[in-house]
Amino acid sequence: MLPGFATPEFTAAFAARHIQEQGVATGHYRTVRGLTVGSVGLGTYLGDADAETDDSYESAVVEFVKLGGNLIDTAINYRAQRSERSIGRALKRLEHEAVARREELVLCTKGGYFSFDGRYPKTRKDVQDWVEKTFFETGILQRDDVAQACHAMSPAYLRHQIAASLGNLGVDTIDVYYLHNPETQLANLDRAGFLKRVRAAFETLEEYAAAGAIRWYGCATWNGFRAAPTSDEYLSLEELVAAARDIAGDGHRFRFVQLPFNLAMLEAARFANQRVGDRLMPLFEAAHRLDITCIASASILQGKLAQELPEAIAEAFPGLPSDALRSIQFNRSAPNLDCTLVGMGRAPHVVENMGLAKRPPAPPETVKRLLLKLA
Ligand SMILES: NC(=O)c1ccc[n+]([C@@H]2O[C@H](COP(=O)([O-])OP(=O)(O)OC[C@H]3O[C@@H](n4cnc5c(N)ncnc54)[C@H](OP(=O)(O)O)[C@@H]3O)[C@@H](O)[C@H]2O)c1
Repeated sequence: MLPGFATPEFTAAFAARHIQEQGVATGHYRTVRGLTVGSVGLGTYLGDADAETDDSYESAVVEFVKLGGNLIDTAINYRAQRSERSIGRALKRLEHEAVARREELVLCTKGGYFSFDGRYPKTRKDVQDWVEKTFFETGILQRDDVAQACHAMSPAYLRHQIAASLGNLGVDTIDVYYLHNPETQLANLDRAGFLKRVRAAFETLEEYAAAGAIRWYGCATWNGFRAAPTSDEYLSLEELVAAARDIAGDGHRFRFVQLPFNLAMLEAARFANQRVGDRLMPLFEAAHRLDITCIASASILQGKLAQELPEAIAEAFPGLPSDALRSIQFNRSAPNLDCTLVGMGRAPHVVENMGLAKRPPAPPETVKRLLLKLA
């Protein structure tokens, strides 16, 4: 197991090395909770659960770090735990080849969805049998913990999943541990019941942070922070922060949120659905006020924004040769967004996308103009 976690000193040294030796732009990096973090992170969601994709992700992670990226995002359920395991192998290679140390890298993972072990069961019955044997017979889950037949966030379940993630990644400490789409639980519960579960999960995660197994925690969401306050799936950031503060005071470790943001999903910057005090505001602004770090997922809408973008986007980002780069540049230039995740399972995509690291983000006015212009 690799000891340590991302530190201010080592992440700053990582950035300085890439700026000096490879011409990475100073503006590529920003300070996130004292760490120096690249504006583009590597995501590991898509792809088949097979050995070929494992090898491809392992090489992509190594290439990404060589080119100046240092935030890596995964989840235990991605590719049936194989994404975490591919990252684990890449981390060993990076240390062995003296490319980067554990302390230079920000490792983020998530727990919530059932995480199959290396392959997906073939039939619905195989799934049920596997869940029964793995979680119910062992007492890790009670039937009532499960939402939509696929999701849980009870303390015993989180303990089991965090231990597995640490093993898969081969590290002593995860830098950011997210509850994965916690809004899934709202399908079964009223708000009071949901908040009770959130509190139990946060208490567990505070315990793990105090013990050094994680550094911070958060909520990685799909609809929750983008929905209208009247929606069943809606998450209030202020309410979540209040729960964390109630459990652990101002030093609570609930410090990260992740949500989709891209040229076609603009809610986090434009939709005033989050109340802070007596005012409604978009999520990015609310997070800034509440001292929460924002990470964007689906930066190119799972590949769909890598082609056929309107001419106005090309005009806004002169000099960028592809729609994928224009989409990523839009995200990494958005105010109050600390890092934008791009799924990159193949090294050629890493090389193309990390070409942006040599350029500064666009001026904030460019993003503001586009936010007004886009439908
Ligand atoms: N609820 C959640 O917590 C949640 C939800 C979604 C995503 N996420 C996180 O956010 C990350 C990013 O989102 P995502 O992976 O869903 O979608 P994405 O980043 O919008 O798109 C990834 C897809 O785009 C392709 N791609 C990458 N660079 C490209 C380029 N230059 N030209 C053309 N295609 C390119 C990738 O191909 P290759 O893989 O073949 O390189 C992959 O198929 C995820 O990987 C995951 O870590 C979290």
